[in-house]
Amino acid sequence: LKPARFGSGVRRELAALLEALHPTGRLTIADRAVAKRWGLPLQGPSHLVAARETSKTLDTWRELIDACVARHLDRDAVLVALGGGVVLDLAGFCAATYLRGVRWIAVPTTLLAQVDAAHGGKTGVDHPAAKNLIGAFHPPETVLADFDYLASLPPRELRGGMGEVVKHAVIGDPELLERCGRTDPAGLVERAARVKLEIVARDPKEAGERRILNLGHTLGHALERAGGYSSLHHGEAVAIGLRAACRIAERHCGFRQTAAVLAALDRCGLPGGLKADPAKIRAALAHDKKRWGGALRWALPEALGRVRVFDDVPEELVSAVLMETASA
Ligand SMILES: NC(=O)c1ccc[n+]([C@@H]2O[C@H](COP(=O)([O-])OP(=O)(O)OC[C@H]3O[C@@H](n4cnc5c(N)ncnc54)[C@H](O)[C@@H]3O)[C@@H](O)[C@H]2O)c1
Ligand SMILES: [Zn+2]
Repeated sequence: LKPARFGSGVRRELAALLEALHPTGRLTIADRAVAKRWGLPLQGPSHLVAARETSKTLDTWRELIDACVARHLDRDAVLVALGGGVVLDLAGFCAATYLRGVRWIAVPTTLLAQVDAAHGGKTGVDHPAAKNLIGAFHPPETVLADFDYLASLPPRELRGGMGEVVKHAVIGDPELLERCGRTDPAGLVERAARVKLEIVARDPKEAGERRILNLGHTLGHALERAGGYSSLHHGEAVAIGLRAACRIAERHCGFRQTAAVLAALDRCGLPGGLKADPAKIRAALAHDKKRWGGALRWALPEALGRVRVFDDVPEELVSAVLMETASA
């Protein structure tokens, strides 16, 4: 595996990188919208998919497998994935499962995918029962995060991606937090991604430490579930979850820097108030609780750059913070 590359124009390194892997065949799996706007970063066969959360399914995965079969790809072939998290998760899972695993290269085109989804090797698809229920750990050979792609990203996608940037800053890079919302997102991508890369290098299969990357996601996922996944961008849900996590952490583990985190989220235009009924949110949290065998896990900051996972956060504290957040 080669270290991820970050920068404007790095997609042009793809052909040489691929060459160095001596593949017997190749297939580019690309987001149709990105291919239309930017063309493909590589010549040769391609398969385009519509990137929507509703297409991150076993049906689309099967379509990708069929495309590999039709092109007679063998075990030494290499797949290239071009797009946001949806296409990367799909193509990566296709790479993980076709012939028990072929190599792949990720070319993330959204802010969220460049700082988060492309790194760490999690691949998979959704199941009607839950998001990301089916999947495998299968890291790409390398990641080429080309900032040029961000130029065509809709503002809401950019803003949502900033939710994960702020999250990474709180977890491992307090200095980055001060820059969030004050500079062009492209200038923040590499440092935000590095926070995740370092943690994942120490805990690739999420045996422990990697769980701190779920900061903001306990409530974030509940909000998405309660709102039917359509009303909030994932990064917006994470931003609300991050605000709540700070408030819980103040009272549970002595966190003192809530104001700095909230200010960064405000500068990025990320939302504050809950957009769903607190009762529905509590029901969604209860659902998660069953999944974890009785106790909710909260990643909470003790200080900027120091986050820990707790499974002893009292329900009354969560309820109180939910009420505060609902009226914020
Ligand atoms: N594997 C992981 O570790 C991991 C981590 C975080 C999120 N994810 C997954 O990532 C997915 C979300 O990813 P996402 O936010 O990138 O969404 P996405 O892939 O759905 O892309 C969002 C939208 O932006 C469009 N788009 C992509 N690149 C563009 C560009 N350069 N210019 C213009 N439009 C562009 C897409 O067509 C789509 O409409 C979720 O399914 C989530 O579960 C995975
Ligand atoms: Zn996330």
